[in-house]
Amino acid sequence: MNDLLDRLRGLLLDTGYTIDGVRERLGDVAATALSREETVPALRATAGDDPLGTLIRLWWLGAAVDERKAPRGLPVEELAAAGLVGVEGGRITSTVHLQPWETGGYVVSDRKVRPGDPALRTDHVVGAGGASANLAQLVSRRPAGRVLDLGTGCGVQVLHLDGRAEEIVATDVNPRALELARLSWALSGIRGVDARRGSLFDPVPGERFDLIVSNPPFVISPAGRFAYRESGFRADDFCRDLVRLAPRHLAPGGTCQLLANWLHVGGEDWQDRVGGWLAETGCDGWAVQRDVQDPAEYVELWLRDAAEQGTPRYRELYEDWLGWFESENVTGIGFGWITLNDSGSLDPVVRVEEYGQRVELPVGGYVDEILGSITGAHRLTDAELLGARLALADGVLEERIGSPGAEDPERIVLRQTRGLRRSAQVGTVEAALAGVCDGLYPLDPLLAAIAELTGEDPGDLREKAPEGLRPLIAEGFFHISTG
Ligand SMILES: C[S@@+](CC[C@H](N)C(=O)[O-])C[C@H]1O[C@@H](n2cnc3c(N)ncnc32)[C@H](O)[C@@H]1O
Repeated sequence: MNDLLDRLRGLLLDTGYTIDGVRERLGDVAATALSREETVPALRATAGDDPLGTLIRLWWLGAAVDERKAPRGLPVEELAAAGLVGVEGGRITSTVHLQPWETGGYVVSDRKVRPGDPALRTDHVVGAGGASANLAQLVSRRPAGRVLDLGTGCGVQVLHLDGRAEEIVATDVNPRALELARLSWALSGIRGVDARRGSLFDPVPGERFDLIVSNPPFVISPAGRFAYRESGFRADDFCRDLVRLAPRHLAPGGTCQLLANWLHVGGEDWQDRVGGWLAETGCDGWAVQRDVQDPAEYVELWLRDAAEQGTPRYRELYEDWLGWFESENVTGIGFGWITLNDSGSLDPVVRVEEYGQRVELPVGGYVDEILGSITGAHRLTDAELLGARLALADGVLEERIGSPGAEDPERIVLRQTRGLRRSAQVGTVEAALAGVCDGLYPLDPLLAAIAELTGEDPGDLREKAPEGLRPLIAEGFFHISTG
């Protein structure tokens, strides 16, 4: 099989079936329509009989192609024997969706259902999409020894982890997912992934990992109808359990990163709910709510995802789901990122925040730094902070906003042009420090100099400064200089 897939990979690459090749062949309009899951422009654009157009129709668009138009060298009989295509009456159809992925590899999954298609099979294997890319962008770029991808699905996270880890274990409860993931890895030239079947951490009892990643079945619904998105656990218990159990499988210093959904329940602060999950772990943790939807928007999104809009059961499914949310007093559903780090500290720090702004990608390039800032700011005593040498982070700009001609600004804002691109309104002292903190001098004498310039009481400044600076350090505007 590996030999067949190696040859197929060679043919796909030679024919230009790559992200850039497909985009160029389709043109901007059809390629953009395809990113919205609209296939008609792409079908029209590939109506000729060139080899690349034929591959796009067969593997990506799921159209039957004339056997005579298949690219020379496509091992049709062998692919049919392996169950990857069917051949009937001179027409080839593919049994899977096979698409090039941004890593340069290929992802094999089931084809996305569209309105009018037969109902989804319950063991549907979802293809790589926005959420997959979202997690891949979040994952730390630090090289890791042992890595676990929990809920590997089509295997896409492994494509991103390959080359950064010494050993990769990938698990899924759905045997069909593991079957297709193995095809993705083989077609991407990745060997040696340890694929195991089972729920949550069951397949890895007693094992520890330097990095655990998961794009889990986070969808919250009254019934676990589709394994690709729902665990069958109650409400948001799957994501909670994933967070709770992860530390038992983290090696010292290890990190766990996942996407999650959580409930907003009337009378409860969602930050307490998610913060509670993290606080129980004993790890340092950072949870970010990137988006929140009301119950109706959420139900519509996921009914649309399974192409159930317009079907006879749509209304009943919608009512049941919404009714269940009502019975649970759910007011919204949050979507976000969770990162845990087993730092070994006896004083673990947890930060839960809402942050929906566009960020610099990949977050994984600086996520360790974010966690370091959050924990460092929290653990510094006031005295240590006053003795520390701070440096303004690279790319921080200052904005002064006020009436034209006014002597003093109404507001001073520090704005990051890199990383999470946060902004923070600051006082004149923090703004002055932003102008002078270059990591060379401790804070104390700098504050004394500022007091002299502004006429403020130096003792007052020393007392107030830590309170104003700690959040700015936690949010990465200032770093503690170690050099
Ligand atoms: C949203 S898909 C993620 C696929 C892929 N990792 C990605 O990033 O696109 C979630 C995966 O979790 C699997 N899954 C569902 N229930 C599970 C469970 N109890 N334990 C482990 N995996 C589960 C599903 O079969 C599915 O493949």
